[in-house]
Amino acid sequence: MGRIYTFVNQKGGVGKTTSAINLAAYLGRFGLRVLIIDLDPQANATSCLNIDRHIIQGGTYQVLIGASPPEAFVLYNPRLKLSILPANAELAGAEIELVSEIARESKLRSAIRSLIEKYDYILIDCPPSLGLLTLNGIVAAKDGLIIPVQCEYLALEGLGRLMDTIRRVRSALFPELTIRGVLLTMFDSRTNLSNEVVAEVKRFFPNNVFQTIIPRSVRLAEAPSFGKPIVLYAPQSSGALAYEAFTQELLQGDGVFIPTPIQQS
Ligand SMILES: Nc1ncnc2c1ncn2[C@@H]1O[C@H](COP(=O)(O)OP(=O)(O)O)[C@@H](O)[C@H]1O
Ligand SMILES: [Mg+2]
Repeated sequence: MGRIYTFVNQKGGVGKTTSAINLAAYLGRFGLRVLIIDLDPQANATSCLNIDRHIIQGGTYQVLIGASPPEAFVLYNPRLKLSILPANAELAGAEIELVSEIARESKLRSAIRSLIEKYDYILIDCPPSLGLLTLNGIVAAKDGLIIPVQCEYLALEGLGRLMDTIRRVRSALFPELTIRGVLLTMFDSRTNLSNEVVAEVKRFFPNNVFQTIIPRSVRLAEAPSFGKPIVLYAPQSSGALAYEAFTQELLQGDGVFIPTPIQQS
């Protein structure tokens, strides 16, 4: 049965999309069946994977409003060995349209139930807010949340509100909701600040921080403009090695055994 993880942090620019895309690409490389669900109206995950907007007939929006089963709009990229349920422009309106719906926070969770058997991993990429789209992402996170935190000034700012939201979801809708882990991103070993943030985040989440830390890497920032995950763009770069290590750490924690080593291309 597939695992579902949701990348969440209402702060923008902390590495949610970068982490979801690159984890997905390595999982695909390792031979696992992976689906990314782009829940952000800005559609960064969709564009990072070089998906031509003209071929997108529908996506997360149609699934959220119940107009269509998710299978109808999932696109498979054979080169990347991963699938994506893309975000399209209409998704921006979903936040408002869903307000009057019954069980509005659980729409995505119910809609993707049929996909759980078809994938080993489903990764949901949330927008930078705590609105109804993100709530749907949180409620759908069957196996937990992955919270990217940037190793920068004010890294913990806003996490209190996120924790409040998580507590509210637990008490009202989904008591088993867990945090799979906090992923430290954009670490700069040359600065004391990065090290201080790591220590601070580990104090805030004593049992929940992934051991792998993602360094700041120009290659990671460049890769999306070539429509490629880092494993295809610069597989030997520090960012690539870090996301590969993160993937292995996650798989190990999940008890998933990888039979074949990764092949470089
Ligand atoms: N480790 C990193 N090193 C350098 N740049 C990064 C790194 N991770 C992400 N970026 C860049 O930072 C910006 C924000 O990252 P993104 O993943 O889009 O954040 P979010 O989805 O949380 O808004 C993007 O331009 C991305 O390419
Ligand atoms: Mg994003």
